[in-house]
Amino acid sequence: MSDVRAIVVGSGIAGLLTALHAVEHGCRVTLVTKDVLEHANTRYAQGGIAGVMFDDDRAEDHLRDTLVAGAGLSDPAAVRVLVDEGPDRIRELVALGVAFDRDGAGAYVKGLEAAHSYPRILHAGGDATGTAIEKALVARLRASDVTVIEHAFLVDLVLTEGRVTGVELLVGEQTGPGPLGTATAPMMPGRHDVISADAVVLATGGAGELYAHSTNPPVATGDGIAAAIRAGAAVADLEFFQFHPTVLEGKAGAAGSATSESFLVSEAVRGEGATLIDEHGRRFAFDAHPDGELAPRDVVARAIARQMELQDGRPVLLDATHLHSTDAASRAVFLARRFPTIDRAVRDRGLDWAREPIPVTPAAHYLMGGITTDLEGRTSLPGLYAVGEVARTGVHGANRLASNSLLEGAVFGARAGDSLAADAASGSWPAKDGATARTSSVAPQPRIDAAAARSLRERGATEAKRPAPPFSRPALQELLWANAGLVRDDEELGNAASIIARWRAVARAPRTEYEYENENLLLVAEHLVTAARARRESVGAHFRSDAPAAAAPQDPSVPAIEAAPLAA
Ligand code: SIN
Repeated sequence: MSDVRAIVVGSGIAGLLTALHAVEHGCRVTLVTKDVLEHANTRYAQGGIAGVMFDDDRAEDHLRDTLVAGAGLSDPAAVRVLVDEGPDRIRELVALGVAFDRDGAGAYVKGLEAAHSYPRILHAGGDATGTAIEKALVARLRASDVTVIEHAFLVDLVLTEGRVTGVELLVGEQTGPGPLGTATAPMMPGRHDVISADAVVLATGGAGELYAHSTNPPVATGDGIAAAIRAGAAVADLEFFQFHPTVLEGKAGAAGSATSESFLVSEAVRGEGATLIDEHGRRFAFDAHPDGELAPRDVVARAIARQMELQDGRPVLLDATHLHSTDAASRAVFLARRFPTIDRAVRDRGLDWAREPIPVTPAAHYLMGGITTDLEGRTSLPGLYAVGEVARTGVHGANRLASNSLLEGAVFGARAGDSLAADAASGSWPAKDGATARTSSVAPQPRIDAAAARSLRERGATEAKRPAPPFSRPALQELLWANAGLVRDDEELGNAASIIARWRAVARAPRTEYEYENENLLLVAEHLVTAARARRESVGAHFRSDAPAAAAPQDPSVPAIEAAPLAA
């Protein structure tokens, strides 16, 4: 056992693999998570994990598909690492107990998703890949020497002379159901604990809770990004928020959140051949892109949003009624076997997708930007690492390729876990020029700072064109959905910036976990909107109706891109 103490915050695939690798290197690792270990966004991943696992697939093709989806803004060096090391990480997951689906002959079943030129997606339990991964890794972690602290909320990073030396946590708060607009009410206040460490790894996931419609669980409140911004770490690409094309809309959301019970319908369903049709039964995706339903995710999501506008906001339809067999009964058996989780959700809503198309709409899904890192997960702050969705490794560019997120979490989580012991032991911070391009450094922002609060108030006052509604999480979610969603323009973004500035100006110091989350969401929203206003071009998931699409920058290290035929 070495003397290096590491804290990992977050328990999805990236945090769990970081912890397992770091402990293998002899570090004393503590993993903290604000809920229970199992409750991470990873658990909800359906489609699978992409990787070059078949003899007739090629890393060059996975690389090219990822770069094309990223719309020219990915970092080719990061993508190279992803595709080259991906297969080893997938084999490691198998060794750790993840049983990816195999056919009768024992070969992995191939899955196809949008913008992949080869069906290279492995899945487990049909459409329960994330659950299978989370379960296997949590079991390994519980059997390891990693110390686990659950129900511990990250309040802030602790800085000592510019180096991250620990975390401040809110621990032991107990909540009950709250009145409308508050989701939970504290029944027992938490206490503030500080844990010191030589290395802190943020693996806190994304911020789907920013939007009124999201595929993410409510834990995705941008806590790690906000803490990193307050500490002065560089962040980038926050304007790139991916919207998944197809979620099944459900009943009203929980109190305190405008996020309705959206249920993800995996892209793998379209990969199996399901089509998108308008309310008159016409396939419309080919109007937007020659690859139709399997075009890049941002293209399909916008095509659906446009079609919904044409039909007065009513959802479009996902049609699986021609899959597998002409016999509806055997199709029902196929759908239940191939997509058991989705099948249950569809039936719970009283629908029969073997016999009728089902209503779907887009929803916020994945934040491509985040805390800028180098290829080992090091951030611009000594002692601080970021892995998984909270990180901006440069892999995803302006638009993430389907099923590359679990892979990114595995590859870069393992790399961070392998590096941090040596980094801490060396006492220096080798990452200075590693944090990749287009970094926007921010000055440290103390939580309570009279001058900053005054300047915010002044900005809010000058920007105010109309009175801001009172702050609530649902109000923020509706604001971003309407003004910083799938399609944005300068006026809407300016309106969002003005309202957010005024909300931030009058915000009180948080006391409960829910209030800390709201503060984090507001801070991330402010940075997202600022980044979206600054990028005055449409590229990837950032689509501005008032700005033309940018020509993708040419990078000589990127192989020439030809139209890639989809594998049959
Ligand atoms: C899906 O199954 O469609 C989601 C997979 C992903 O986001 O990569």
